[in-house]
Amino acid sequence: GITRHYKFNIKLKNITRLCRTKSIVTVNGEFPGPRVIAREGDRLVIKVVNHVSNNISIHWHGIRQLRSGWADGPSYITQCPIQTGQSYVYNFTITGQRGTLFWHAHISWLRATLYGPLIILPKSNESYPFVKPYKEVPILFGEWFNADPEAVINQSLQTGGGPNVSDAYTLNGLPGPLYNCSAKDTYKLKVKPGKTYLLRLINAALNDELFFSIANHTFTVVEADAAYVKPFVTNILVIAPGQTTNVLLKTKSQAPNATFFMLARPYFTGMGTFDNTTVAGILEYQTPSNSSPSTSLKNRPLLKPGLPAINATNFVANFSSKLRSLATAKFPANVPQKVDKKFFFTIGLGSNPCPKNQTCQGPNGTKFAASMNNFSFALPRTALLQSYFFSQSSGVYTADFPAFPLHPFNYTGTPPNNTRVSNGTKVVVIPFNTSVEVVLQDTSILGAESHPLHLHGYNFYVVGQGFGNFDPNNDPSKFNLVDPVERNTVGVPSGGWVAIRFQADNPGVWLMHCHFDIHLSWGLRMAWIVLDGKLPNQKLPPPPSDLPQC
Ligand code: C2O
Repeated sequence: GITRHYKFNIKLKNITRLCRTKSIVTVNGEFPGPRVIAREGDRLVIKVVNHVSNNISIHWHGIRQLRSGWADGPSYITQCPIQTGQSYVYNFTITGQRGTLFWHAHISWLRATLYGPLIILPKSNESYPFVKPYKEVPILFGEWFNADPEAVINQSLQTGGGPNVSDAYTLNGLPGPLYNCSAKDTYKLKVKPGKTYLLRLINAALNDELFFSIANHTFTVVEADAAYVKPFVTNILVIAPGQTTNVLLKTKSQAPNATFFMLARPYFTGMGTFDNTTVAGILEYQTPSNSSPSTSLKNRPLLKPGLPAINATNFVANFSSKLRSLATAKFPANVPQKVDKKFFFTIGLGSNPCPKNQTCQGPNGTKFAASMNNFSFALPRTALLQSYFFSQSSGVYTADFPAFPLHPFNYTGTPPNNTRVSNGTKVVVIPFNTSVEVVLQDTSILGAESHPLHLHGYNFYVVGQGFGNFDPNNDPSKFNLVDPVERNTVGVPSGGWVAIRFQADNPGVWLMHCHFDIHLSWGLRMAWIVLDGKLPNQKLPPPPSDLPQC
């Protein structure tokens, strides 16, 4: 591979959306942010310079970061934030991965405006395991707030209530014609008839899973989270925050006498308010130069696709069960067949008491919290990876995150009266190369809800999923250990569970969390410490000299 250099200048930029102009935090003044492209095997060297007053860090979402954990990016986990006027060089090699990923800010809610595609092409002598596309098109879904996104989350944390919801979804940064005064801010995909386009779909929205469809067209799904899947055809996709999906779009052989809406709107199962609006883009066939007036653009009817109901959980479960690893000799599914260590994590919402002489807007006058195994993870004052590496854990974290819930209950039954969470900075420590199974169980404590769970530093295999409570006596016999999908973010079904497996072959500190930013901010996160192995190439090297300090 070669080394590719990028420079990210973090700076403010005035952007107008929904008839309002505001100053947002951007990379190089671009919104959405610049495309990072590399090939499998390349090294990326990205210098991030912070010219704004906010603290910043950037995460390369889905990159394995094999023995390069110092470049992973989550603030207070693998690094202290880059402060105003400071810089940090993210330096990592892309090993054993190719496909669509994305990068985003990993502090507070700055990823609302700081995100962009991260595209890994196959090595130059290798090709896709599907037809060579005529063109490749990144499509990023985002969420736009009229307010300052950091103010939105700070207000939620202070009052304990739910956050203000976003004002629009965006497609490549544009809300589209279904929003006020946004017709001119519409993403248009101009296509030629009879060609295959590779759409690289990225859900960079903060808090919403999305359905996506293009009127009168179908997609062939070929990849999820930068791992090839067995191709299958669908006209509607589901994509959760943190997930990426590559699809082939074959255009009609003749330019049709119509224009087609591409629509995305939320799949939502939680309680409370959410942004229930629809982003629209337009798929437009190029008009042949000899076209008759009847096919001229403005005379074409505009067709709309149908989308499932907002809470179509069965549709979503059915869609996820279609995703299977390619599992060929060239792209094998290396599913751990035996497990060294089993974990069972409940995930869900809960509450913290309201401080005296304050009124709180959470459930029954409390503050909303979110937890795994009932522990709401508090960010430490310094980066975990530094504390671990230099053996200074005292006062920063404790290694007692429980492998199973301390007080089991009927997770999906009648909610318990006591919704209180415990707070702390607890991690799980595992030896190098442990083969791990984790069952992620949604709880109905404050309403069942689908949660996109993301693991840093690894891809995992989704070996099973189901509704209700996981049954350790019967469910494992139904696990798929042959061709389960390999990914970095999995939607835990609302009122259900998923089982994942991974081989802990990457030493370092790795965050696992809900990729809904609101749940992340409320503490739905934990971290794994994977110890060094014995061989030199099984150890995490020391940090780079410019690693930010807290
Ligand atoms: Cu896409 Cu921890 O993040």
